[in-house]
Amino acid sequence: MSRLAPVVIDNGTGFTKMGFAGNSDPSFIQPTVIATRDRGSAAKGPSVPSKPSFLNTSSSSNLASKRGIEDLDFYIGDEAVANSKTYALNYPIRHGQIDNWDHMERYWEQSIFKYLRCEPEDHYFLLTEPPLNAPENRENTAEIMFESFNIQGLYIAVQAVLALAASWTSNKVSEQSLTGTVIDSGDGVTHVIPVAEGYVIGSSIKSVPIAGRDLTSFVQNLLRERGESMIPAEDSMTVAQRIKEQYSYVCPDIVKEFKKYDQEGDKYFKKYDGVHSVTGQPYSVDVGFERFLAPEIFFNPEIASSDYLTPLPEVVDTVVQTSPIDVRRGLYKNIVLSGGSTMFENFGKRLQRDIKRIADARIRRSEILSGGSMRSTPMEVNVISHKFQRYAVWFGGSLLASTPEFYSYCHTKAEYDEIGPSICRHNRVFGTLG
Ligand SMILES: Nc1ncnc2c1ncn2[C@@H]1O[C@H](COP(=O)(O)OP(=O)(O)OP(=O)(O)O)[C@@H](O)[C@H]1O
Ligand SMILES: [Mg+2]
Repeated sequence: MSRLAPVVIDNGTGFTKMGFAGNSDPSFIQPTVIATRDRGSAAKGPSVPSKPSFLNTSSSSNLASKRGIEDLDFYIGDEAVANSKTYALNYPIRHGQIDNWDHMERYWEQSIFKYLRCEPEDHYFLLTEPPLNAPENRENTAEIMFESFNIQGLYIAVQAVLALAASWTSNKVSEQSLTGTVIDSGDGVTHVIPVAEGYVIGSSIKSVPIAGRDLTSFVQNLLRERGESMIPAEDSMTVAQRIKEQYSYVCPDIVKEFKKYDQEGDKYFKKYDGVHSVTGQPYSVDVGFERFLAPEIFFNPEIASSDYLTPLPEVVDTVVQTSPIDVRRGLYKNIVLSGGSTMFENFGKRLQRDIKRIADARIRRSEILSGGSMRSTPMEVNVISHKFQRYAVWFGGSLLASTPEFYSYCHTKAEYDEIGPSICRHNRVFGTLG
């Protein structure tokens, strides 16, 4: 039987990437936001999770009849943002976790029917989840996917494991290893996740409260403090984000970098040209030190905050050191980048240098402590950058869902009908099925 390509959807806190298995890019990248007619609860702090619908007595698969027809009046993604004046914006995912199931179901509904334009009953689906997701969340997802959308089969993959699979395309990694340390930095949070043979080492995961959104507001503040008064207030966040994405890079040494700007300003200062979103007036903004200072926050967090002070390379080192000793070499050897906020030029290079310094210093200390009697082999530290990094999680999903084995990892509609949502509490792990 020939099958249609599985649908792959990675719902992130900031952006949803959706498309079909086997493709190298997602078909759509849309903000994870839904615009609804305000019924009193929207966009006012954390929403109360709605009751999972398998607790309801009706098991209608017709979405329009399940909800009132007025509930079909909503937008998702860019269209939602464009309608924010007359509709209420809701963000169904917070810190990587689904927080409002009703909004999420409707977000999926439009993703499938309006964007991907496919019949869900003809497809298997691969969805993603953050590390340490609660099993109840997986059940809720399964219940919506099988009962509301009647999909053929479902696999919910851990984002970090998919990011590891995505790095197989990099020519630095010789074997297809599902052992490595994933640094996933998106819009809302940065996670450092050790994975050994496809299994996340949950007790060693660390999160860092610095991600894209923080870098954007840092740039926004620098521009404001410098008195870039040309930027219209309503555009200042978007302008800061564009400047960050287009011009920022990671430097090896900030003291030297400041000097370069002093000595050869023409080469380093840039201009950003914008158009006022309301009046249509063109304006121009100088872009200076924020180019290298924004991503420097990962390496020297004290630049932007007095609360959080641990540099990212140190966090990565701690994550590896708190993992079981027999996997540590594998974790240093395959450090994989994933997510939009790892896209800065030279981000991987600087991380690799700084992590290596920490690891080397530790080895030297233990050699000194042993009085010179012990010689350790140097630690191989590799930070892998690759061209699918921006959408690594989605791309890894596309890769795995296009293998013939994918179907054997999925839970099918028949299994769901027989056993119920609890069948999806646990997922088989790719690479470990005999
Ligand atoms: N070229 C780039 N350089 C720097 N930052 C970028 C670039 N492209 C995108 N970003 C930033 O990446 C962030 C979005 O990344 P991503 O899509 O991985 O997040 P997400 O998956 O929605 O969030 P999370 O993983 O936190 O749940 C935004 O802050 C965006 O500004
Ligand atoms: Mg993400």
